[in-house]
Amino acid sequence: MTVETTSGFPPYLSLQAHRGAAGLAPENTPAAFRAAIALGVDAAELDLQATKDRVVVVIHDDTVDRTTDGRGRVGDLTLAEIKRLDAGSKFDAAFCGERVPTLRELIDLVKAGGNPQFRLNLEIKFAEGRAGQPPDLEERVLAVLRECGFLDRVITQSFHHASAAKMKRLAPGIPAGLLVGQRRQPADPVTAVRRHGVDYYAPHHSLVTSDLLRMLHGAGIAVVTWTVNDPADMRRLIIAGLGTLPGDGIISDFPDRLVNLRKFWK
Ligand code: G3P
Ligand code: CA
Repeated sequence: MTVETTSGFPPYLSLQAHRGAAGLAPENTPAAFRAAIALGVDAAELDLQATKDRVVVVIHDDTVDRTTDGRGRVGDLTLAEIKRLDAGSKFDAAFCGERVPTLRELIDLVKAGGNPQFRLNLEIKFAEGRAGQPPDLEERVLAVLRECGFLDRVITQSFHHASAAKMKRLAPGIPAGLLVGQRRQPADPVTAVRRHGVDYYAPHHSLVTSDLLRMLHGAGIAVVTWTVNDPADMRRLIIAGLGTLPGDGIISDFPDRLVNLRKFWK
């Protein structure tokens, strides 16, 4: 029987803040990304969609209803309309005035953050399939990255595996991953990754076992898992072998917990 042992914090584990740092500040807002950068994590995950006038913005749901004081589908609202909305108060009154950022604004914020190693994990979102979203969302995201000179500081992922594959075809140099939900694990994850021509596997943390890690790592495929908020789960994943292959990552709403784990690991 093989016993998994780990000595020291895993060398390749990228600590990633979910939706900025959604447990600490309003998700996907500038305040959340500033919090993530200040904590010293390696990257922040975020969700991308396009407005009615085809500007790429950072927002999770297909509507603005849950996270802002407005109503309506992201794809039916112009950037000017979305910019009028308060994206902070529903989290806490202290964040009143936070706005939905564009991808370009967020990249500027990261560049100003002073950590040239800090990366963004871009989730291409197509809530309800592609309804309300342009067929060229991937091209629009890449155009922003090119214009901002930020191509080498991102990875991408999507639950829509055709989109992940398209991103990889359009920008082979950017690591792309397949997001996999709790009830949608493919029968053969290695084959799924290879069939889509992408680089890594991004399962819900409940799917991650030492066997799964061994199988994917054995095939040279990294694993980026989400959304891990309980320190006991973080520890379990590390002991199972997460972070032993370059490209591995762990995503949390509470990046402060990830940082503490790394700091006090034994
Ligand atoms: O990084 C993966 C995670 O963000 C996927 O779930 O719904 O939070 O976008 P969701
Ligand atoms: Ca996401």
